[in-house]
Parts: sequence; structure tokens; C-alpha cells
Amino acid sequence: MNGDSTPMDRTIPSGQTPKICARPLEPEEASISVNGYRKSALRLLELFSGIGAVSAACGEIEVVGSIDISQPAASVYTANFSTPNLVREISALPDQLLADYQADVWWMSPPCQPFTRRGLQADIHDPRCQAFLRLIDAISRIQPTVVAMENVHGFESSLAFARMQEVLGDVGYRIATEKLCSSQFGVPNLRPRFFVIATRVGEPSLAPPDSTTVQPIEQFLDAPEQFSRWEGLEVSEQQLREYAHAVSIVTPSEDLSRCFTSAYGQSIVRSGSYLRVPDGIRRFSPSEVARLLGFSDEFVLPEDLTTRQLWKLLGNSLNIHCVRHVLRAVQRAVKEGAD
Ligand SMILES: C[S@@+](CC[C@H](N)C(=O)[O-])C[C@H]1O[C@@H](n2cnc3c(N)ncnc32)[C@H](O)[C@@H]1O
Repeated sequence: MNGDSTPMDRTIPSGQTPKICARPLEPEEASISVNGYRKSALRLLELFSGIGAVSAACGEIEVVGSIDISQPAASVYTANFSTPNLVREISALPDQLLADYQADVWWMSPPCQPFTRRGLQADIHDPRCQAFLRLIDAISRIQPTVVAMENVHGFESSLAFARMQEVLGDVGYRIATEKLCSSQFGVPNLRPRFFVIATRVGEPSLAPPDSTTVQPIEQFLDAPEQFSRWEGLEVSEQQLREYAHAVSIVTPSEDLSRCFTSAYGQSIVRSGSYLRVPDGIRRFSPSEVARLLGFSDEFVLPEDLTTRQLWKLLGNSLNIHCVRHVLRAVQRAVKEGAD
């Protein structure tokens, strides 16, 4: 948790802690030294913050603000973090408002629909890309020390990324990129994503993590008594059989599940895996998806949101292990530039 936030509710009882718990950033990693004087934690602004995967990953990095247009996302965010959360259309934000956060690091997780390979790939012509393009313009004027971002595979060859490289390159940013997947961090879940760091200090570098053993899915499952909270976990074998070619059914002892998207619970195919249990096949619950994303058991999934709303929000979120890996690379670049 960030700051002095107080979780209102624990949806996952203690004793269910998964083996893979994303390690918080150490204070040493989060602070920087400028001319031999140790400056306190970097200040980070989370843009397109959703439920706050980046805030959850920050540890000792100070999150000074978070902005997203979604009210349901805000209700999860504010149940977990004391950081100010602004519910606003990002493309309409004036430069001054963004500059007033005085953030060293801007993290952006813009919508992926303009770039997904299964979508229309309208790229910069997609209205959902406008807020990102507006931020690129703002970055060229406000020039935060570091910009970091996440998007789907395919973004790397987009016109939007070409624009970002050109505009940021012109004002002196150096850029590093890497494709990372939660499965590289020992998590039995696929979530391949493209990450970018752009810095005005130091030399950014991003590399894959050291290899690690992947844990079985059973380490991430709820206790049976928790299921009463969720609606719509059941799914009939017959329904799945109709789409047998395009659904993934896994068992608790397996070590890989498919990427959970915002369509989980709505679309049967290509939205995430189903779990074979002794009495049939079921969907993964939102708290199980949250664990696979690296959220701790203290992370609150508010009771007033439906199971479907939570699946949607979690499906839009980020894997916290990947974000921490990128934030460590941000720290290294800033330290190198400041020492
Ligand atoms: C890929 S998700 C990122 C989610 C987030 N990082 C998380 O941990 O949940 C994109 C987010 O951008 C928000 N969003 C989309 N368009 C926006 C806009 N024009 N202004 C503000 N937020 C927007 C969505 O509500 C969504 O939460």
C-alpha cells in the first residue's frame, strides 16, 4: 500500500498468501543521490491509473497523483491508496495542472485498443489514442525527468510510438524498451507487454529478469469459503465444448494460464483461462486474477462493485512484477545520471 492508506476490507483471508509476492522496492532503490546528497524518494505521477497497479508497485517511490477517467476504477483506487485520484479526461488537462504535480516520473498506461493485433489498429487515428498524443505534447514542454509506459505487443511498430520517439528524442530523452511477461517472474500467467523508459538523465536500459521457477496455479487460488462473494464463476462444459478450439482449461497443478482481459466473464473465448476443479469447470475469481497480477492479499476489491466490473478493471490492469522491474531500471538510470 502506498502512504498511510487503510484497507477497508480484506477480500482474501490471511493464510492464503501466494508464494510469489512481488518484492517491494527498497528505500535504497527508491532514493537518489544528487551531488552526494541523498534526495528523498522520486515523485511519480500515475496517468491512466485505473485500479493503481503502478501505485501498488511503487513501494518507497512517492506517488504524488493518479488520473483516470473511470469512476469504478477510482473507487478501487481510493479504497487502497491515499494518493489524490483525479477522475478526468486526460486529453483535456491543461499543462499547468500536470506540471503542478512536480513529478520526476510520469508513468502512462494508455488504452491498448488502438494497437491490439486483433483490433482495427487505427493507431493515432483512434479517438482512444488522443489522450496519449496529448501527453506526448505536454511531455515535450514540461519535460519530467523520466517517462515510463506500458502497452500491448504491436505498440512498438505503431505510429504513436514513432511519434513518441521523435518528439521525446528532439528534446533530449534517451529511450530503452523491452518486452516483458508475468511468466518470466514465476507467475503462472501469460501477460506479454511492451515497456518503455525515456530519461533525460543517465542511460536507460531494460533487460529481461533472471530466470526463475514458475509456481503452480494452486498457489494463487481462493479458499472455497470465499466463493460466495462472486457471481458467475460457473461455466458449463457444454458451453466450453462449443468453443473448444479457442478456450483454455487448466488444472490447479499446471503452471500457465492465459492472459485475463477486460472481457473475462463476458466473452467465452480468448479472454482468459478456465479452471478444472473436482466438481466441474469454473472461472477464476477476481481475487485470483488479482493475485496472478501480483496484487497483495491486502488489496481491497470493494464490495459495491460486481464480479463483472472487477474482472473488467483487473483485465485492464498491469502485472506488478513487470512494473517493479521497470521501476528498478528507472531508479538505476536516475542514480547513474545524478551521481
Ligand atoms: C490499460 S488501462 C490501465 C489501467 C491501470 N494501469 C491499472 O492498473 O488498472 C487504461 C486506463 O485508461 C483509462 N482511460 C482511457 N482513456 C482515458 C482518457 N481519455 N482519460 C483518462 N483516462 C482514460 C481507462 O479508464 C483505463 O483505466
